[in-house]
Amino acid sequence: MLQMMGLCLRLSLLLTAIFLWSAPQAMAWDDRPSELYTLCKSCHGQDGTGNQGVGAPAIAGLPEWYLKAQLDKFSQGLRGAHAKDLRGMRMRPIGRTLTEENRASVAKYVSSLPRPKVADTIQGNLAKGEATFGVCTACHGADALGNQAVNAPPTAGNNDWYLLTQLKNFKNKVRGYDPTKDPNGAAMAGIATTLDDQAMINVVAYINALKPAK
Ligand code: HEC
Ligand code: HEC
Repeated sequence: MLQMMGLCLRLSLLLTAIFLWSAPQAMAWDDRPSELYTLCKSCHGQDGTGNQGVGAPAIAGLPEWYLKAQLDKFSQGLRGAHAKDLRGMRMRPIGRTLTEENRASVAKYVSSLPRPKVADTIQGNLAKGEATFGVCTACHGADALGNQAVNAPPTAGNNDWYLLTQLKNFKNKVRGYDPTKDPNGAAMAGIATTLDDQAMINVVAYINALKPAK
């Protein structure tokens, strides 16, 4: 009995010691953005180049303002909270774990990584895709490199399979479902509603063709 009590005491001392040792480490996250990024590697890859197997897109080199905005949306339930959003649900817990400062810090780090060259996986009718893309240029620009003034991200150079998923998500109100708290997402959702499946494939194929040469 005495022996058991001694063991319990030693165990609880050990647990206290571990807690005291680990607490200051956790609080140091904010100062070390590259350390924060270790939380992302299992899905987005070592260098932010993405992993189609888990549906995690290339994020390296996206603009800091866009990365921060999306991390905020995941953390606030404006993205990744819909029951049909299986991929977004993988990302949402990460957004929720991060503080506002963490999100700003890791967004800055990810945007500093070189933009990877992604492989094409979708083919479509380029002429039809170009015609549809005319509507998109108003916000995303003729080169699809985005426009911060209207909060539209670059789409050229993104994974095509990811872009297609997002167009479907917007159309099905799986993303951009709250016009009050997420007016940018809702604006994009309105556009996606006008596209059928084939038009989405064609426009994504056209965006592939706009990939910046590197
Ligand atoms: C468990 C896997 C997983 C982890 C870990 C993870 N992500 Fe994600 N992330 C995803 C998936 C899957 C998506 C795509 C969601 C979708 O299809 O809407 C995503 C999407 C994103 C997007 C949206 C990209 C865009 O173009 O809108 C950003 C930004 C992002 N992740 C950043 C991060 C950062 C930063 C971390 C680490 C702090 C991280 N993720 C960790 C799985 C993950
Ligand atoms: C009225 C402005 C506007 C127009 C027009 C527009 N978009 Fe968008 N788009 C946006 C905004 C703003 C976002 C970012 C939404 C957010 O913050 O979640 C976005 C996001 C996207 C995304 C998600 C990117 C990512 O990394 O997750 C895709 C894909 C996209 N747009 C494709 C298109 C296509 C294709 C067209 C034309 C058919 C188009 N957009 C037209 C404003 C627009």
